[in-house]
Amino acid sequence: MNYARCILAILIALTAAPSIAAKSDQPIGGLKTEYQHDPLGLDAAEPRFSWQMKSRARGAGQSAYQIRVATDEDALRGAQSLIWDSGKIDSRQSIFVSYGGPRLQSRARYFWQVRVWDERGLDLGWSRAANWEMGLLSPADWSADWISPAVHEGGGTRASPLLRRDFDLGGRVARARVYATSHGLYELFINGHRVGDELMTPGWTSYNHRLQYQTYDVTNLLKAGRNAIGAVLGDGWYRGVIGFAGAHDRYGNRLALLCQLEVTYQDGHREIIGSDAQWQTLPGPILSSQVYDGESYDARLERAGWNAGGYDDAGWSPVEVIAASKEILVASQGPAVRRINELVPVRIFKSPSGEAVVDLGQNMVGWARLKVKGPAGTVVTLRHAEVLDQNGNVYTDNLRSAKSTVRYTLSGKGTEIFEPHFTYQGFRFVAVSGYPGKLARDSITGITLHSDMAVTGTFTTSKPLIDRLQHNIQWGQKGNFFDVPTDCPQRDERLGWTGDAQVFAPTAAFNMDVDGFFSKWLKDLAADQLENGSIPFVVPDVLSSSDRPAGGAAGWGDAATVIPWELYLAYGDKRVLEDQYISMRRWVEYEQSRAGADEIWDGDTHFGDWLDFFSVGTGSSFGSTSTDLIATAYFAHSTDILRRSALILGKDKDAARYGDSLARIKAAFQRQFIASDGTVGAGTQTAYVLALDFDLVPDELRVAAAQKLAADVRRRGHLTTGFLGTPKLLSVLTRFGYGDEAYLLLNREQFPSWLYPVRQGATTIWERWDGIKPDGTFQDKGMNSFNHYAYGAVGSWMYQTIGGINIDPSAPGYAHFLIQVQPGGGFTHAHAEHDSPYGAIRTDWMLKDGRMDLNVVIPANSGAMLRVPRARVAAMTESGRPIRVGNGIAGARQETEDAVFDLAAGQYSFRYAYSPAVSPP
Ligand code: BGC
Repeated sequence: MNYARCILAILIALTAAPSIAAKSDQPIGGLKTEYQHDPLGLDAAEPRFSWQMKSRARGAGQSAYQIRVATDEDALRGAQSLIWDSGKIDSRQSIFVSYGGPRLQSRARYFWQVRVWDERGLDLGWSRAANWEMGLLSPADWSADWISPAVHEGGGTRASPLLRRDFDLGGRVARARVYATSHGLYELFINGHRVGDELMTPGWTSYNHRLQYQTYDVTNLLKAGRNAIGAVLGDGWYRGVIGFAGAHDRYGNRLALLCQLEVTYQDGHREIIGSDAQWQTLPGPILSSQVYDGESYDARLERAGWNAGGYDDAGWSPVEVIAASKEILVASQGPAVRRINELVPVRIFKSPSGEAVVDLGQNMVGWARLKVKGPAGTVVTLRHAEVLDQNGNVYTDNLRSAKSTVRYTLSGKGTEIFEPHFTYQGFRFVAVSGYPGKLARDSITGITLHSDMAVTGTFTTSKPLIDRLQHNIQWGQKGNFFDVPTDCPQRDERLGWTGDAQVFAPTAAFNMDVDGFFSKWLKDLAADQLENGSIPFVVPDVLSSSDRPAGGAAGWGDAATVIPWELYLAYGDKRVLEDQYISMRRWVEYEQSRAGADEIWDGDTHFGDWLDFFSVGTGSSFGSTSTDLIATAYFAHSTDILRRSALILGKDKDAARYGDSLARIKAAFQRQFIASDGTVGAGTQTAYVLALDFDLVPDELRVAAAQKLAADVRRRGHLTTGFLGTPKLLSVLTRFGYGDEAYLLLNREQFPSWLYPVRQGATTIWERWDGIKPDGTFQDKGMNSFNHYAYGAVGSWMYQTIGGINIDPSAPGYAHFLIQVQPGGGFTHAHAEHDSPYGAIRTDWMLKDGRMDLNVVIPANSGAMLRVPRARVAAMTESGRPIRVGNGIAGARQETEDAVFDLAAGQYSFRYAYSPAVSPP
């Protein structure tokens, strides 16, 4: 580089430097209102504010904060125009601080910022301004009408209708919002542009009780003069086929749209263009679109320009204004479903049966984007499959009745690019027929769709197979967190099975930010709770009928208590406990009513330890552990969660009452299911796991019971558990000192084990331990999903035990947490990261020549207790020096065999001689 250019480069670097520095120097960041950054359209009456201190310094923490809120950004600076000023509050709280000002107004936008005093009392100054905007808070805010295509469309063909109208704007627009929802699904357009990037809106809720609307900023899509707004409607979950036996029209048989465009002109006056009788409608090019079956689209029927101004809609029919509720409208709360990744084919081949097949290399959820060029009327058909059969042909028997087929009829106009609209598929392979010409690598692209949750977890180790398992768990989560937590994404099911969600929730919360996602779903769980307090098998409940409620299964219904509790622990979200409390209590009261005076919940039918090892090949899926035992154990567990929640919410009477109740259930459980030698039930692994995990075994028999569990694991060399026993199997073994047995199960590669599917080439978690049997044949096609997250629940144990990151229940949300790495099983290295509400937690360890290097990062305003098993404080170093209290190390002590440290925020590097654990006999 010559001299002049060198100077120029330095000058450019210098001018760029201040802004970069300013950004990274900002000591407060991560500002969230409720669950999002700068959300649009909230309806929480008292939104909560969260922030993070960015400092990495040892001991960094908050001693006080102040929040101020104003209706415009400049006003934040002038104390007079603030609408709320918290004043300086001496508190460490930096997550979920509730707004405490005057009542918030529909449509209004608010700006807020926070000022933090650090641990030395030093004022760190004000953060940047964050903002949020309220949605429409009252039904009276909706002046638009519900409109529906006039033709009553029960049954028959179900082409997706287009709805449109032109409108004129009399000036320059300063701000414009659309509030929209539908019966069925909708896509919205203004002047030819798609509004927003959310898919499958308005999402899936308990539609009869809660219907979400979305809020969009459309200021930039409008212009003075002639404009147009248009919508396409699809059957979706509302009236499409959903649930079992081809059931449809669950919530109604008419599609409808409610949408309200609110324009504020630059001169300040406002105008509302709502859905009303002036809209026109016509069936569009989507001939049919069903969640399970896929979509048929005829591009020759596209109406060019239909959603832009000035289109001639002669020949269209007027819509009909219909009566439908606006009372049940709620702002959307969870993260929307969006396009997340694109997958390019890893292979294109001809199958033995002669089909052209595209392999995307990953069992994914979403749809295929098709790129094609050919004569008008050519039909390209895409069939989706998760796996190939033994002969190498695409295998779709496990989809049951779901056709998962997309049919595209070409318009013949140049290169055509198509993505479906109101359907999605779970697949890795696409069988393509009718494609004109040769398939190229960009003919098919996999578009993954799921609820747009922030990724908060990373976990890698020295073992590639375990890393693959983690990959599979994460992909299972991606594909099944699709607005609701589904069991599977491919067959004619895709339902919000409560049991699956319950067991997977802790793992889910390590991997991604699921607080908003689950708290939305929990509201539907409460809304769909059955009259007697029982919880439906699936939420939203599409399986119950008025004369045949489908609910009340132990381990499934307990989602009502377990998930709010897990959210409280992982995020410190106390409001979720408040909001769900009545629902939680009703569920426990239901369990009580089924158990009766003897506190044993017996005689009812449950799913049990669904699909355990013993059920393989028996034709029954219910598992071999007594369902009475399981039901009574969960009854105790839910009662315990309710008791703890009552304590946290200050409901002392309830806490005492459920405490008494818990003692009675425990005593009954022990009488009924625990023998004097510590045998639990018939001695299945699941019986021990539930009894020990839920603390139902008397103190004096715990060691014996744990011994028996470990002995069974050693004798068989494998697990025997199903959906309910598997999630806690390893953590119970580890908790009682049987780390070797836990690692033995984790490392096992033959059926039944977690790594068996990995060895078989799985890219997601399977529903069954042997979805593909060792001889290459498939398990029962009636229930054989290759993307079912339940067994992926082992993920939380991997973060906790290999990664060493553990929640401290007394300081939820990682306000304080526990680090305890427990190596074993031949692992020599692991790296775990979790983006907690306070910031990134990191552990990283490396074992070499009997020496352990352990690095940990504790985010600002948090703290951790580090426990190092079998180590001597006196023989350890931190950052190369002998351990000394001070500089972030608030305490160091020897607790029998373990070295224990109290650590403030910061980064630490420990080194010590490592001695492996030995399991008790
Ligand atoms: C679903 C499950 C669910 C189970 C309940 C299955 O069909 O796929 O994951 O929990 O039924 O029995």
